[in-house]
Amino acid sequence: FVPLGFRHLNKETWVVSKNRHDAGERLNYVNTPHVIAMVGLPARGKTYISKKLSRYLNWIGINTKVFNLGEYRRHATTAYKCHEFFRPENKEAMAIRTQCAKDALDDVCTWLDNGGEVAVFDATNSTIERRQLILDIVVKKRGFKLFFVESVCDDPKIVEQNIMEVKINSPDYQSMGADVALRDFLQRIEHYQEQYEPLDENTESELSYMKIFNTGEKVLVHKHEGHIQARIVYYLMNIHIIPRTIYLTRHGESEWNREGKIGGDSQLSPNGVKYAIALANYINGQNIKNLRVWTSWHHRTIQSASGVRAPQERWKSLNEIDAGVCDGKTYEVIKREFPEQFESRDRDKFAYRYPRGESYEDLVARLEPVIMELERQGNVLVVSHQAVHRCLLAYFLDKNSEELPYLEVPLHTLIKLTPVAYGCKMEQINFPIEAVNTHRPKPKDLPTSFDSMGIKSTNMEPGFLEDRFKTEGKDKKKEGLDNGSGKIANNGDATLPT
Ligand code: F6P
Repeated sequence: FVPLGFRHLNKETWVVSKNRHDAGERLNYVNTPHVIAMVGLPARGKTYISKKLSRYLNWIGINTKVFNLGEYRRHATTAYKCHEFFRPENKEAMAIRTQCAKDALDDVCTWLDNGGEVAVFDATNSTIERRQLILDIVVKKRGFKLFFVESVCDDPKIVEQNIMEVKINSPDYQSMGADVALRDFLQRIEHYQEQYEPLDENTESELSYMKIFNTGEKVLVHKHEGHIQARIVYYLMNIHIIPRTIYLTRHGESEWNREGKIGGDSQLSPNGVKYAIALANYINGQNIKNLRVWTSWHHRTIQSASGVRAPQERWKSLNEIDAGVCDGKTYEVIKREFPEQFESRDRDKFAYRYPRGESYEDLVARLEPVIMELERQGNVLVVSHQAVHRCLLAYFLDKNSEELPYLEVPLHTLIKLTPVAYGCKMEQINFPIEAVNTHRPKPKDLPTSFDSMGIKSTNMEPGFLEDRFKTEGKDKKKEGLDNGSGKIANNGDATLPT
């Protein structure tokens, strides 16, 4: 298992800093690992926020893990009986709960010492005393950075919806009926309420934190520090819980798909045109409220969405992965002309960057604004490309960097993503219109070294491959596609509807 985050270079920084510096010194670094500690009464969406935040941070390459205190408590106790366990006067239970918190925080610190970058401590942390304990362990003893995220919700409808959707299905309530579970949970909340001390800039002025009111109606940020906290704040400001559906589809089959060529900007094939018509009929027939359509800048996506009746925007960021010097070639030709490149890609498809083109890792970075905007929106249909949809799907379905470049996104298929509880439900609608299969699975038996292709890796001088591409590859600079850095400058924003 390789989470996206493990690709992040900072991991190395951490292993080194752990060995060389003590807690006091570590606090002075910008990239110190973080603990994000949730705060709030039960059923305020803390687990939802924790899981979603972790999925996002891993996707952008920050190695993140959630530590849920409820799981430690269930592990340390026998089967849950009722809310009495959570009474503040229940001394015995309180001692168990405090010990569980310490155990969880120990695990948090161990994980951060071993390459983790962000640990999300998913617990109520609803008293000043508990937050001081976290501060002592995490900051004063270990030198990690600490940021609290409090979810405040005084809308009984949201609270009850949360209880009915997720809490009554929790392992605590497995043997109880829904009504009994709901009543018990509400009493549990009351016990917490007795002692609840919301974060306050007067009583805990030294803490860095953000407060989210009623699932995003209002946000308050206090003393946030550094780029990780800034990204977390920005992300959490953008998410919402209003039900909606995201539709993803590739363009209809293109002429180049038929020829097996990658990249380019070709037109739809006759089958692709049939798909465009069928897609429009299907989507128009669904009467989707306030639907938005986003396409890439390529002809094949614009053509595919042309019949859909909804406002359309073109995103350069949704363009297909740039295959650089391999653009316009079939996999067979690439394998023949650039065998070592072909093999490198098979070995690590996520990190492999086409000479003068992009890697999947680059693509994820280019798609971050798209994800951020998708989070803010309601119903959206995204008409894009194979590699792009793999990246978007990995975000929504929490797939790691090894799985991501091999996710199946067939042509003439509409993918429906609907948010449910803590994740996303995926449905596929396959249109019965013939199309070629462009999916190339990971080869099972990769040769052990370049020797297998008659190329001795020791003979390869630095720049050997680049020189070959200079002579054999297309000169992209002349075409105005290359920004001179070897990477296409395509972090474009959404454009106005055409
Ligand atoms: O083959 C269609 C296509 O969209 C190409 O344009 C693109 O290079 C390719 O898929 C991406 O898939 P993979 O990363 O598996 O080569």
